[in-house]
Amino acid sequence: MRSHLCGEVTEQLADQSVTLCGWVDRSRDLGGLVFVSLRDYRGIIQVVVDPDNKAAFEVATTLRNEFCVRISGQVRMRPQQQWNEDMATGKVEILADTVEILNTAAPIPMLMNDNDGEDIRLKYRYLDMRRPRMQHNMRIRAALYKAIRTHLDNQDFCEFETPILTKATPEGARDYLVPSRVHDGQFYALPQSPQLFKQLFMMSGMDRYYQIARCFRDEDLRADRQPEFTQLDMEMSFVTEQDVQDIAENMMRDVFKQVLDVKLDTQFPRLTFHDAMDKYGSDKPDLRNPMELISVDEAVKDVEFKVFSGPANDPQGRVAVLRVPGGAVFSRKQIDNYTQLVAKYGGRGLAWIKVKDLDAGREGIQSPIAKFLDDTALQTILEESSAASGDILFFGAGEWLVVSTFMGALRLACGKDLELVEDSWKPLWVTDFPMFEWDEEAGRYFAMHHPFTSARAGSIEELKKAAGKAISSGYDMVLNGSEIGGGSIRIHKPEMQQAVFELLGIGEQEAEDKFGFLLEALKYGCPPHGGIAFGIDRMVALMTGENSIRDVIAYPKTTSAQCLLTSAPSAVDAVALDELHINVIPKPAKRTE
Ligand code: AMO
Ligand code: AMP
Repeated sequence: MRSHLCGEVTEQLADQSVTLCGWVDRSRDLGGLVFVSLRDYRGIIQVVVDPDNKAAFEVATTLRNEFCVRISGQVRMRPQQQWNEDMATGKVEILADTVEILNTAAPIPMLMNDNDGEDIRLKYRYLDMRRPRMQHNMRIRAALYKAIRTHLDNQDFCEFETPILTKATPEGARDYLVPSRVHDGQFYALPQSPQLFKQLFMMSGMDRYYQIARCFRDEDLRADRQPEFTQLDMEMSFVTEQDVQDIAENMMRDVFKQVLDVKLDTQFPRLTFHDAMDKYGSDKPDLRNPMELISVDEAVKDVEFKVFSGPANDPQGRVAVLRVPGGAVFSRKQIDNYTQLVAKYGGRGLAWIKVKDLDAGREGIQSPIAKFLDDTALQTILEESSAASGDILFFGAGEWLVVSTFMGALRLACGKDLELVEDSWKPLWVTDFPMFEWDEEAGRYFAMHHPFTSARAGSIEELKKAAGKAISSGYDMVLNGSEIGGGSIRIHKPEMQQAVFELLGIGEQEAEDKFGFLLEALKYGCPPHGGIAFGIDRMVALMTGENSIRDVIAYPKTTSAQCLLTSAPSAVDAVALDELHINVIPKPAKRTE
């Protein structure tokens, strides 16, 4: 139907005849001439329809936005003063010979630009995706898939699928359940990840597996979380942590080169979980932000200010400083806002020192807490934080993890507000996570990664004795402050798996009911193995500069887990429910007092 794509028509085609198909981006009647901006996925080209060409002109005057048309004509150079250097097609236009309407369009219910609200964009997603921004995002996504598959195929990985109707796979979220019609009162679970199946592939001798896999997690949604999302899931046999990381890192470098022509570091930096929290207040530090947290416990051990000296003398405590370059300009109101921000992360206060003139000593600073700090403490703090005139120092004091977390949130906010975040790609590995987290309320341990992750070293007895201190063989890949992937070396011995289940409060019977098939499979010569899974949606969001993964998923759900295009989820009729042996009990109406 067409000879070229709209975005391909450049000065190289001057004086040639072309036939193009696409949508009317805009159509204007300018003093007798009709100008049509014709759009396809490659770009936009200007078409001119002359009234002398009666047949074409008549059709052209009826064109409205988003009509689907076919236009033939001559490519001609635009007068130089009308060149649009921002457009690939900006030096030429097409003088139409024929204008054919392939389909009309009803008035478009949206603006078709970034001013459209998200609800309308999701309801009319097929229109939204006509926009160049969404075309770009979706095509980057497809290019990433292609680059991943090419790279992994070259590395001897095989792509296998795993079931969607399956049994629960615990990744820490709630399961989506699917009732069985055939088995009265029984349910399948949709996979939170292919975790157990990929481990079983290793037991089958598949050696290197990958899958671009859909995962389902019923959890609270955010900009970087969807109930249904895509992982690049990988598993390998006879590998160490370092092997998996090298393979994943090489792949990441290759796909970034292929898709974006970006060169990532030849060796990704590595941080332990402890150091990441200590220095950046996050287990997914954004290394584009130059600020670091500094511990000043020694300096404030003996000060009269109990807010500081208390945690400084407590082995579980910490006093951390964040030096914000140029932050002395912050107003009282801004500081109050930061104090409110840290409160959300458990910060009970946010002490600060503004350094107006470093050389003027005590006279040169402004601070509500300086009076509680003796000269030595003050001097040490200024030196250790490398304070300079014009900076503000923020202080967090309290329990180590709480302080690190709220100061980490502050670090991100100040970096953003003062535009200190550089425009670059900063990948890294975070390693040495604790194996377990103790949950006071539940009175038991939870797996920090998942229950199939092995401990770094030691026997079952050692693990049981000091479970709280055990370090796992898990690792995360972080890019620009986003956790894009996580994995581990797995437990490959049934006794160890059983012991970890026990530590997690999963009794023998429950382990048998839920994971009996895994425990049994581990008995038949299971090879040592490990792997990783990457959040494809998060990777594409980073690659396209989008803040929300919804902008890189064709048909995403809203934050309340609805599909506005199809209106899912929706009620089903009584017959269908009967067949599924389901009786829906309406939620009692909320009482209004
Ligand atoms: P994990 O749960 O860390 O590991 O998931 C791996 C990666 O998937 C992405 N991700 C999500 N993306 C969008 N929406 C969500 N709701 C969501 N949840 C996770 C993140 C994350 O890093 N089976 C293990 C992997 C393994 O051990 O090999 C797993 O699923 O980018
Ligand atoms: P207060 O003695 O509670 O009035 O606090 C004096 C100063 O210390 C105020 O600037 C508080 O914001 C700050 N502050 C209080 N608690 C903490 C804390 N846990 N970490 C950091 N600063 C704090």
